[in-house]
Amino acid sequence: MRMQINLQRDTWLRGNATPCERSAKSRCVRHAATRPMRAVLLGPPGVGKGTQAALLFARMGACHLSTGEILRTAKCLNACDRTPGLNTALEYMQRGELVPDQTVVQLIQERTDCLRCHAGFLLDGFPRTVEQAKALDQLLGNEHLGLDAAISYYLPWPVVVERLSGRRTCRACKSAYHIETLPPRQEGLCDECGGPLHQREDDQPESINVRMQSYAKSTAPVLDFYRDRGLLVEVSAEGAPEEVYQRTLQSLENRVKVKPTG
Ligand code: AP5
Repeated sequence: MRMQINLQRDTWLRGNATPCERSAKSRCVRHAATRPMRAVLLGPPGVGKGTQAALLFARMGACHLSTGEILRTAKCLNACDRTPGLNTALEYMQRGELVPDQTVVQLIQERTDCLRCHAGFLLDGFPRTVEQAKALDQLLGNEHLGLDAAISYYLPWPVVVERLSGRRTCRACKSAYHIETLPPRQEGLCDECGGPLHQREDDQPESINVRMQSYAKSTAPVLDFYRDRGLLVEVSAEGAPEEVYQRTLQSLENRVKVKPTG
């Protein structure tokens, strides 16, 4: 199975100044959400958030908005294409420091058009701390928007390591593959655009440990934040992507009404 990836996300990667050309009407969906779905995707690195977001985008229309992707793309943008928030984030990354909450929130503020999108959104990688979760609450409140769910994927630790160490990503269109569970048709090349595949720097064993520690310390408390608000939906990420997707839909049944369209 190949993932469709959201190619029209310049507004997300570059900020509000870049108009979004996306039209939800033109999208072919197997399940149509009867109203826009607005959710955050939580879970440890490599659990499959991006993979599920791609499936949910392709079939339900809500845009996949990844903060990790903004930060990775920032390095490749020309200075004139970078927002003030991106410039600040880059300074932290160039010093090898984590990007602080305040700057990440600024990046989201620069992209509020994406939160207002009539197709809904799937935030992946944000919020990563309780401070970020509070800021998102406030931003959505200002826009009179509500969250449908905080979907938290979970998986045994050794499986997470297998998924991360086998991941390969297209440099051009960012499609994700796995050398064993989701190999490209031609080794080293993307099925979607023919671009070269590579291993993300942070998928090396030493980086994986650091990311897992950071998740346990800073992101795990975000689950309680959403549990207390009645928004947390916990979903096992075991099994093939399609199984996880179907499990996600079942878990969301009472929150987002979906009607199969064929
Ligand atoms: P980010 O890009 O958000 O990374 P992450 O949260 O660590 O998540 P990943 O993208 O690594 O994993 P995923 O869960 O999406 O898994 P995927 O679907 O690819 O962030 C990167 C960095 O940016 C952070 O470490 C941080 O420093 C910084 N950052 C980002 N947001 C920030 C924020 N808000 N604040 C501060 N800093 C921030 O799947 C993984 C692999 O498994 C793939 O190969 C896939 O093919 C395979 N796979 C997926 N599902 C299945 C399945 N069901 N069965 C078999 N294989 C599967």
